[in-house]
Amino acid sequence: MTTAPTARESSVGTAHTRVEGRDKVTGAARYAGEVPFAGLAHGWLALSTIARGRILSVETAGALAMPGVLTVLHHGNAPRLDTDYIGLLGVPPDPTCAVFQHDRVPHLGWPVALVVAGTPEQAREAAEALVVCYEEEPHDIAFTGEHPDAYPVDGHVPAVTGKGDLEAELAASDAVVDAEYTTPEEHHNPMEPHAATARWEDGRLEVVDSNQGATWVAGDLAKLFSLDPASVRVRSEHVGGGFGSKGIRAHQVAAVMASTALRRPVRVVMTRRQMFSLAGYRSPTVQRIRLGADAGGRLRALEHRSVSLTSTVFEFVEPSASVARVMYDAAAHHTANRVVRLDVPTPTWMRAPGEAPGSFALESALDELAEKCGIDPIELRARNEPERGPVSGLPFSGRGLLACFREGARRFGWADRDPRPGLRREGRWLLGTGTAAASFPAGAAPSTAAVTAEADGTFTVRISAADIGTGARTALTLVAADALGTRPDRVRVRIGDSDFGPAMIAGGSMGTRSWAWAVTAAADELRERLTPGTPVPPEGVTVRSDTTEAIGALARKERHSFGAQFAEVAVDVTTGEVRVRRMLGVFAPGRIVNPLTARGQFVGGMVWGISMALHEEAVRDPASGGHYGADLAGYHVATHADVPHVEADWIEDPDPDDPVGIKGIGEIGIVGAAAAVANAVWHATGVRHRSLPIRPDRVLLAGAPGT
Ligand code: MOS
Repeated sequence: MTTAPTARESSVGTAHTRVEGRDKVTGAARYAGEVPFAGLAHGWLALSTIARGRILSVETAGALAMPGVLTVLHHGNAPRLDTDYIGLLGVPPDPTCAVFQHDRVPHLGWPVALVVAGTPEQAREAAEALVVCYEEEPHDIAFTGEHPDAYPVDGHVPAVTGKGDLEAELAASDAVVDAEYTTPEEHHNPMEPHAATARWEDGRLEVVDSNQGATWVAGDLAKLFSLDPASVRVRSEHVGGGFGSKGIRAHQVAAVMASTALRRPVRVVMTRRQMFSLAGYRSPTVQRIRLGADAGGRLRALEHRSVSLTSTVFEFVEPSASVARVMYDAAAHHTANRVVRLDVPTPTWMRAPGEAPGSFALESALDELAEKCGIDPIELRARNEPERGPVSGLPFSGRGLLACFREGARRFGWADRDPRPGLRREGRWLLGTGTAAASFPAGAAPSTAAVTAEADGTFTVRISAADIGTGARTALTLVAADALGTRPDRVRVRIGDSDFGPAMIAGGSMGTRSWAWAVTAAADELRERLTPGTPVPPEGVTVRSDTTEAIGALARKERHSFGAQFAEVAVDVTTGEVRVRRMLGVFAPGRIVNPLTARGQFVGGMVWGISMALHEEAVRDPASGGHYGADLAGYHVATHADVPHVEADWIEDPDPDDPVGIKGIGEIGIVGAAAAVANAVWHATGVRHRSLPIRPDRVLLAGAPGT
């Protein structure tokens, strides 16, 4: 034993491998689809094969006669659910999760039945043999920016903002950009598919699930099934990725229905293909940007309008125009998010909802303006740094954008860049570099935590946090160790259990910050409670915290993380292939709790930005209303060979209003990344690509110098 140091070094800020890492790589960590239960039955979802219409009949007799089949649930025999409530996120539930409530079919891949059997194979075979008769109606899945039915929706942000005379300022501008940008339908594809097992035990419903918030899912299940919230427990210990897709969904509800009907545990797992219609996705966007600037590049006019789509059963808006409300000001400043309802599944949050597609359009347009003004793109941004929130008028709690650009430019070697496009060639490759800005809101939400001093001198933290692969469990271990004045190996952090009380979800880049706040508050109070020299009783000493009041007292400010993205690309003029050669992101993201996992978060977001720029695109067949190739063969994501040297780093940027200094890092890595790649493709080829992904056929069609 070494002697304990008297003044303890901070654990926050030091690299720490995942506390559950060994369990994960050895397979000891069990995921929701593999936790064993005695008497487990397996449900298989049957999905609609039409894109719009009515179910005439579900002919169950044949399926029920098949080996091992226990029951078939559908709208004709399923229990009624209560969907008339406002959920944790302040909106009513998406009726998509309330399965088997009526005979309407609003999109292809809508759940029409659950076949339950003794094995997954038996359930699958019967589900595939199930005969469902439909009355089909004509469907409309055609998404365009000019759709006549597009309308503004106030989502979690207002739909429309505006000040100043746009046309007058544009007319008085020396340089004008007026361009339309499009992004395609994109899917989360977390590595672990959605999976839930439901069972009743001692009068309580227990659901073992893979989600981004155990109390979120538990709360919705209690409401849907009209149960006492105290009688519902959701556990979600290990989660193989979520990215916004893992909330309350059809599989948990179907599993609870079946478990209730059969009085035994029932598991429902989504297939990769089913996830394309049941797990949510990012809406395609059509965005129009108009910028007007004086000869020095200072913006006089900024308009950012976005149209996205949603289903006919729920309003979800991809708020792509909102990023302009934070980034740049102008005398005339107008933004609008509109939505059109089509016969498609409901989209949902996907990593940096709004900011990811919005930054592609806005940061591409800024690059076009820099070209028109003959000003370096970084200098253009420096000349347009707002003093206050362009729309809110509020001061920024911190705005590290230019510091990120300075550090990024130095490390990337930006000063040597010749701004002229289409000049650098290496064999058949044209080379170019590009940059773009990034931002993402930094917030915190009320959470509760319990910290226990154990009799053996260790500590246990209990919080209904979710570690969806981010390293949140490890981050909270470091935070708790510092707050308790002890070493991380003396702290056990237990998460992913709704019985630990309400807490923020792993979402909005707000999870770790919100949970760390609650853990710190409980640990601080526990330290005051413990008397040095007095032994801890056998049952331990537990202190609970609730940060509702503390977070409510935060002064109103513009709170964001910022970043600067840099990319170098090579474009093959003979095949149209774009390869990213290197990428650098420098962020002002608040205090970094664990550099090891934080870097993973940033790099992961940037890799996704490469994927968004060059690969990802879900395409629907107008005839069926469903996808071509709803799988990872048809839907391309960047893999190892597509990903070059990606570097992420950060500058000192602690949030003075946060007990730990955290802002949040989950989403900003993808923001601006696709624009940096697209701007580099322009620099390489002299051709602007305003539609993602920048596929080889698009590069070839657009032409390039030397082709
Ligand atoms: Mo994130 S898209 O809030 O999971």
